[in-house]
Amino acid sequence: MDRFLTPDDLGKALRRDVAEGLGARPRTLPAKWFYDERGSELFEEITRLEEYYPTRRERAILAARAPEIAEATGARTLMELGAGSGEKTRMLLDALSGTLRTYVPVDVSGDFLARAAAQIAEDHPGLRVHPVVADYERHMSLLPDGERRLVVFLGGTIGNMTPAERVSFLSALRATMDDEDALLLGADLVKDEKRLVRAYDDARGVTAEFNRNVLNVINRELGADFVPERFAHVALWSPGDEWIEMRLRSLEPQVVHVPAIDLEVEFDEGEEVRTEISAKFRRERLEAEAGAAGMTIDRWWTDADGDFALTLVRPGL
Ligand code: SAH
Ligand code: AVI
Repeated sequence: MDRFLTPDDLGKALRRDVAEGLGARPRTLPAKWFYDERGSELFEEITRLEEYYPTRRERAILAARAPEIAEATGARTLMELGAGSGEKTRMLLDALSGTLRTYVPVDVSGDFLARAAAQIAEDHPGLRVHPVVADYERHMSLLPDGERRLVVFLGGTIGNMTPAERVSFLSALRATMDDEDALLLGADLVKDEKRLVRAYDDARGVTAEFNRNVLNVINRELGADFVPERFAHVALWSPGDEWIEMRLRSLEPQVVHVPAIDLEVEFDEGEEVRTEISAKFRRERLEAEAGAAGMTIDRWWTDADGDFALTLVRPGL
């Protein structure tokens, strides 16, 4: 396993993000810090919730389109960004078995990645599985190259970046791509607000626990004294931005200490920390953003209800 992020790098990056994000108002934290081992497991639990439709929809599209994707790409290397469990990707590995030599799952959640990759290697003898612990927003140019590479970015995770972050991410990826490479990109689509909010505020409170997990991460890694139960989970739709925002709302006035960065944060009652955005897309927006990064959407597939899109993006305009 390659590590572009050692535990030391992760510690430094977390200290910087917490100092910047909690040291100013409005308070924010980057969504990638949800994902320690517990956070990755909670995300897997979210994917099985009745309210959380994106995973099921994307799985249905992959089930229907995997042979076409294999035919259109003939990939020899499949590199998956933010791979998580790689559970849906198994359909692609099977469909591509005629050409595929190497699977490179990339994730910040190192221990979870190592276990998922070992399981995939066991189930696909003959496939070279090369997991990489890296931040795809910082380490794109370091990620392994490969002949006829299919880069896969599933789950709608691109929506967890702001529009500006998306264009720099896509441009950095484009810069590593050869003419015969392609990007398979999953994107959640704009839909009824009630369904969207329900997907991020489930009845069992699994998403709430996932949201609060970022506080456990900061407590463990930076010695902070957050009491997660003193923060309420908030999910709301921002119509102007067309994204869901997750926030943590302080239930009382409180002071939290973060000794590793010598920070004291005073929260007013009702004050919120934005912990995630999850943008929902229209086709025109994705086309424009791919274009701004020097790429073109070649194929566009949706599920029968038009909830989610899987797109095949090629370098060039
Ligand atoms: N692709 C899977 C998992 C999506 S959850 C699916 O579709 O179900 C998002 C994944 O991206 C998590 O595993 C998380 O650890 C990873 N991730 C989030 N931000 C990241 C970053 N900046 N660099 C690398 N991985 C990241
Ligand atoms: C990983 N990502 C696409 C998920 C999403 O839907 O934005 C993370 C998530 N947050 C709350 N529930 C799931």
